[in-house]
Amino acid sequence: AQPPPPPLPSSQSVQELILDGGTVPERYAYKDDKTASFDESLPLTDVPAIDLGLLTASSSSSAGEELIKLRSALTCWGCFHAINHGISCSFLDQLHELTKQFFALPKEEKEKCARAPDGIEGYGNDMVFSEQQVIDWNDRVYIIISPEDKRKLEVWPEKPETFREVIHEYSVMLRPVINNVFKAMALSLNLEENCFLNQFGERGVMFARFNYYPRCPRPDLVLGLKPHADGSAITVVLPDREVEGLQFQRDGQWFTVPTIPNALLINVGDQVEIMSNGIFKSPVHRAVTNAERDRISLAVFCTSEEENEIGPADGLINEETPRLYKKIRNYPETYFEYYQLGKRSIDAVKI
Ligand code: SIN
Ligand code: FE2
Repeated sequence: AQPPPPPLPSSQSVQELILDGGTVPERYAYKDDKTASFDESLPLTDVPAIDLGLLTASSSSSAGEELIKLRSALTCWGCFHAINHGISCSFLDQLHELTKQFFALPKEEKEKCARAPDGIEGYGNDMVFSEQQVIDWNDRVYIIISPEDKRKLEVWPEKPETFREVIHEYSVMLRPVINNVFKAMALSLNLEENCFLNQFGERGVMFARFNYYPRCPRPDLVLGLKPHADGSAITVVLPDREVEGLQFQRDGQWFTVPTIPNALLINVGDQVEIMSNGIFKSPVHRAVTNAERDRISLAVFCTSEEENEIGPADGLINEETPRLYKKIRNYPETYFEYYQLGKRSIDAVKI
């Protein structure tokens, strides 16, 4: 495989673009009909809300029912709304506020944690790999938040003042939540409960992306995030409280995710597609913008420990259902390049 080309110098922040006037620069605009602006007429997903408290209730019949719901949600959509996850509404409010406050800071303050030209982590916008690439209508801060010794604090915001403390706390709260989701996913497939969690590892990595999608005068021409599937094992999204914009594709059709107060949206990524031998499909999704309101979100991509080999669980392989994916380490090394090309890195892992 060829090494990815180095990213071109990063483009201007989208936030600055809109301050410059009302038009969409060419490099952000799609010329074909790839986009659909935020469109009230798109159907909503009917993704179920799963009670994480019930999933982990030992030996109750309600756990059994919830596991069936989980399996069906992940088979149909690749995602679910997690409720009763143990993180308080007031804490989720703090996360929303921090995200809003960071992007409202002066440009000079935000740029103190700017991504280095050859780096991945920090404040910036879409990574640019080619002149032809259409750039996402999105500014973000992208940082590793766990394990603690992998943090690069030089690209962590220092403002708002509570940022570091609150994000540390969030990473601590998320660890048991994601561990339980891995266990429940395995149980829902009648597998030994640790068989996905062992592949993920105790030190599976959490990458947080704080997203800011400024309102756009021509939402019909741009995408907040182009269609993609995540390279993670699972992704935990705290969506905007009020503004919809995340959409999932199913059978070639786009569906808008409705906002459910205080729920987290959890989707599987390519790593769980591999571990589940394709029973749970890493769903294709995108973010759209709208002309009236800015939108924010906080996505945490949970990715297996680099040293771990991942592959289809042995319990899912037999004569009738052969192994569909290779065993692999360091998946997905070239994720960002594939993302920009609109390609799926998982295709390289299929047998
Ligand atoms: C994503 O991470 O793919 C989307 C997050 C969002 O809802 O903005
Ligand atoms: Fe995503």
